[in-house]
Amino acid sequence: MPETSNLSGQHILLGISGGIAAYKTPILVRRLVEAGASVQVVMTANAHQFVTATSLQAVSGNPVRDDLWDAAAEAAMGHIELARWADQILIAPATASMIARLATGEASDLLSTLCLASPAPVSVAPAMNQQMYQHPAVQRNLASLEADGYRIIGPDSGDQACGDQGPGRMTEPEDLLSALAQHPLSGDDAGSLTGCTVMVTTGPTREAIDPVRYISNHSSGLQGLAIAESARRAGATVILIAGPGVPSAHWQIERRDVTTAQEMYEEVHNSLPAADIFIGVAAVADYRPANSEAQKIKRHRHADSDMKLALVENPDIIASVVQSGQVKVVVGFAAETNDTLNNAREKRARKGLDAIVVNDVSDRSIGFNSTNNAVTLIHEHGEVAFGTQPKTVIADQLIRELTPIFTAKTAQKL
Ligand code: C5P
Repeated sequence: MPETSNLSGQHILLGISGGIAAYKTPILVRRLVEAGASVQVVMTANAHQFVTATSLQAVSGNPVRDDLWDAAAEAAMGHIELARWADQILIAPATASMIARLATGEASDLLSTLCLASPAPVSVAPAMNQQMYQHPAVQRNLASLEADGYRIIGPDSGDQACGDQGPGRMTEPEDLLSALAQHPLSGDDAGSLTGCTVMVTTGPTREAIDPVRYISNHSSGLQGLAIAESARRAGATVILIAGPGVPSAHWQIERRDVTTAQEMYEEVHNSLPAADIFIGVAAVADYRPANSEAQKIKRHRHADSDMKLALVENPDIIASVVQSGQVKVVVGFAAETNDTLNNAREKRARKGLDAIVVNDVSDRSIGFNSTNNAVTLIHEHGEVAFGTQPKTVIADQLIRELTPIFTAKTAQKL
């Protein structure tokens, strides 16, 4: 059973759009109510094809809303009032059409209008055929939603109702419940980082060999982006230093794009005086070519011998942040392939970090280039493992777990 005590007393607005996974929503409502939450359900017109309002009304104990122009429902609780009532909004299942409406900021039905009108955090659980889910338009819309501060939960991968196999299954009700319970803006966490400036580095770096080739790694930057987003939602001012290929961030996040480790080092140190907390998620290249050739290297130059590339060491950015003494808390990441925990413990000590987050990148279904991750956080008071979950949920959990350390250390040294 997930830990759901945070949900007790919360107002959850559940939006249901028209996908087959809607058949699971009465169970979801039931579990939310059992966890002590008050639930109001809003359905789109198409959702009625998959689940009945009567069932949802019975399990939630509240009338179900589906129409912006329902005079009787509006008289009981106007839609703006309903938008303000919610502590959290969850849209599950979120169809491709619902996601597109949210991404364009449409207010064409009650549910999309509520999402625009509510100050509450909105989580979206996509559910659709795997081909649809992987369509660039859907992926583009999901990226826009993330950039607007929506939290995307899932989807899971596996057997689909249509007979296909692949990503697009709605996250199971139990996991949705635990994701909602982990939200940093729920309960006591709201505004827990207000007044703090958090700097996050994320993504890979690229070290040029010549004008067309470079040394880099598989980092997608998604975990760091999610951490920046969680810190922002917890009330922090966030500076994000992003390597190449990192998707767009929320407009309130101050973002600087860099390519090389040297550029990342310079951007970090330029902005460091403004920061209280540094979280180094970037997969910085440890070495760069000693000479980046001005012209593309031609094969015939090396035809009769193996080519050797001379490398020089890049600065260790996080170690230099610790040495500068300019920030009060430094958190590092460690991507390890073997003896994961011991390597990370040693790295935390060697680099003088307050905490380190370690993930085992030998499992290619999580970590690099995946939307899921599984990590262990190691800090001075102990170690906490977070099992395989969306990176957005891991980010929320890390920020929640680190907040007491952040607040203790930032208060101590002010
Ligand atoms: O030693 P390793 O590269 O595994 O350490 C990982 C941690 O150090 C991450 O937090 C990463 O962002 C940071 N790092 C850095 N500069 C480097 C190499 C790693 O800031 N040149």
